[in-house]
Amino acid sequence: MNLEPFNLERIQSEWEHFVDFNLSESGVEPLRIIDLLETTELKDQFLNMQLGYSQTNGTVPLREAIAQYYPGSGAENILATNGGAEANFLVTWWLFHENPLRRELVFMVPNYMQMSGIWKAFGGKVRTCKLQMAKRGWIPDIESLKDVVTDGTAAIMICNPNNPTGSIIDTSSLKAIVEIADEKGVWVVSDEVYRGAEMKEEKSPSMFGRYDKTIVTSSLSKVCALPGLRLGWAACPSQEVATQLWNYSDYTTICPSKMSDWLAVHALRPEFRAKIEQRTRKLIRENWSITKKWLDSYSALFEYVPPSASAICFIKQKTGLSSLELVMRLLKEKSVLIAPGEYFEVPGFIRIGFGADREYLERAFERFSEFLDAL
Ligand SMILES: Cc1ncc(COP(=O)(O)O)c(C=O)c1O
Repeated sequence: MNLEPFNLERIQSEWEHFVDFNLSESGVEPLRIIDLLETTELKDQFLNMQLGYSQTNGTVPLREAIAQYYPGSGAENILATNGGAEANFLVTWWLFHENPLRRELVFMVPNYMQMSGIWKAFGGKVRTCKLQMAKRGWIPDIESLKDVVTDGTAAIMICNPNNPTGSIIDTSSLKAIVEIADEKGVWVVSDEVYRGAEMKEEKSPSMFGRYDKTIVTSSLSKVCALPGLRLGWAACPSQEVATQLWNYSDYTTICPSKMSDWLAVHALRPEFRAKIEQRTRKLIRENWSITKKWLDSYSALFEYVPPSASAICFIKQKTGLSSLELVMRLLKEKSVLIAPGEYFEVPGFIRIGFGADREYLERAFERFSEFLDAL
């Protein structure tokens, strides 16, 4: 097995806790446990929780709480996991064995490179379909998608809203993707961890329920600002698929932590979730205006399409350095961490995360400016 390094996660693992300014994060300033425990009763319940194993596929209240966000689904459609990362892993693993005659994965690029890395390590072939930078956002190249989906394709994997561009794949493109998938009997996997973190009030469209071979993965890490809970899920088209994935999760982590399962139920209460989403969107909008202003003050060096969702922006950089060089020098010389486009298979770009608190962000940009001004 040739497991290529998951470069984005590796650079973050190595540096994010040691740099002065971490702008490699794609989420927003995380909440605290106390933010979820609004009453004395809840605090008492939390502190008195017995730390046994939890229900391995997620407790019924948790799966019901997740299912309410996927119309037409119930607890039986949901597998709770340790973060969206585990959900993605299980889905990829399962898909690889679902039909041995289909060993090709069509992967939208740029993207969070987890699924393609796993697929290749299993010995599968990855074919890419590009999101193209246009004035109104990064748009999927549907024509080229038609060319790469074949009878040997297991699944089309998209990330919507997209990491690293922050673009939203619109309903007409989702429909076109489904049509192409349906023609060849191919699964569609949609990683929707950033859904709910839109700049505008209107939510980005979900792939869930558009097609009987759709699996949506997601988590509480980004929109709900709770990455430390490590709580994610796969929303499946049927109980049968959820159960098959569950069989695989017996071999990975057994169950999500009992504390996380319990806290997640509280975070997912509709009125509470709405409040967290509002907080996330407000932070994203306000911080984007700071980020935009800073980027525009370097208009000779930076070109970008504003993100429509998430606290990340994908920027074409014209410093004369490769993006990887820029990132490593910025890290070593100024202790600021960002992500290079090479880690999303798009050299020449950088990804900046702007979800931290405002003062931190402004100080990070000052430090970044010192670097650019000295070039
Ligand atoms: C698109 C995408 N999916 C999944 C993940 C994994 O996150 P988590 O396991 O915290 O849900 C990330 C993390 O950045 C991501 O960007």
